[in-house]
Amino acid sequence: MRTTISVIKADVGSLAGHHVSPEPLLEAARAELSRARKEGLIEDFYVTRCGDDLELIMTHFRGEGSGEVHSLAWETFKRATDVARELGLYGAGQDLLSDAFSGNLRGMGPGFAELEFEERPAEPFVVFMADKTEPGAFNLPIFRMFADPFNTAGLVISPKLHRGFAFEVLDVKEGRVVELSAPEEMYDILALIGEPGRYVVRRVYAKDPREPAAAVSTTRLNLIAGKYVGKDDPVAVVRAQSRFPALGEILEPFTFPHLVAGWMRGSHAGPLMPVSEADARPSRFDGPPRVMALGFNVRRGRLIGPSDLFSDVAFDRARAMANEVADYMRRHGPFMPHRLGAEEMEYTTLPQVLERLEGRFRAAGD
Ligand code: 13P
Ligand code: 13P
Ligand code: MG
Ligand code: MG
Repeated sequence: MRTTISVIKADVGSLAGHHVSPEPLLEAARAELSRARKEGLIEDFYVTRCGDDLELIMTHFRGEGSGEVHSLAWETFKRATDVARELGLYGAGQDLLSDAFSGNLRGMGPGFAELEFEERPAEPFVVFMADKTEPGAFNLPIFRMFADPFNTAGLVISPKLHRGFAFEVLDVKEGRVVELSAPEEMYDILALIGEPGRYVVRRVYAKDPREPAAAVSTTRLNLIAGKYVGKDDPVAVVRAQSRFPALGEILEPFTFPHLVAGWMRGSHAGPLMPVSEADARPSRFDGPPRVMALGFNVRRGRLIGPSDLFSDVAFDRARAMANEVADYMRRHGPFMPHRLGAEEMEYTTLPQVLERLEGRFRAAGD
């Protein structure tokens, strides 16, 4: 029996601005998923939120991209949207881009990361959920987990990891993917994923024998080749231990709150702050961007856990650093590189402002 972990998320409305998905929405989602578990559609679930994003973590035996599971998530988000509308929450139904479900969530608005595998006798994994950023935000930490020997000791000292990992990279602009192998093609990988607004690590595989190691949600970005469709607060699933990095190797990259895109109006760069489930409530300038991490085991489809991994005091320094970097970045106000570059601003409301100035420009002359 192959188990699938499906993490599916959407912003269907939030409290007090783009701040937090409140308890009534989580309750509505839990009720839907409880019913589905009883009916045997899914095996187990955990519902949470990261900022204003409602997160459904589900296990089942129906494989990746299952129409039934995606439809369940869609109906769950619709039910939560009804509650959000009733409560007059902000941005009710924000991420439900379509009116009707058509077999799969691809292009519908919700983001999803799914991993299907044969369960090992012990099957630990981590679910990352982020708010006020984009899928490329995971490029740097995922590279460190699976390709950086200064982060992941196992790459050097464990024969099980020594052969390295394969990275599947999505070119958001052209709507195409390329697979590259670490460590041999490490510099090529970095040449691409160092530009996270364009190239996004979508999947990682262990090599010989090939086995899925990690998946990142890139749904909306993948939607239409050549057309940017907005930032999408991402989720990721990463398998741990044995053939994969140890739990601590998976979390270690987040001790560095690197700069990511997506803060305030999806238009600013800021540090990615690792936080506990309770602290995934961004408010300062709608941020700074947050990431939370929940650790689980899965056994015959049943979820054990979670453990709230970034609640560890060992991440306090990263949070303090993120706050300092946030202060520093904020002092730039509307100036780049705090404000994002021209290309990313093309997809915001800025062009409407600039258009009004168009007629007032004259030739510079000498
Ligand atoms: P394993 O038990 O998966 O070999 O993990 C090694 C370890 O020591 C993790 O820190
Ligand atoms: P979300 O993408 O999390 O809804 O945030 C929108 C935003 O721009 C807040 O400043
Ligand atoms: Mg929102
Ligand atoms: Mg959000």
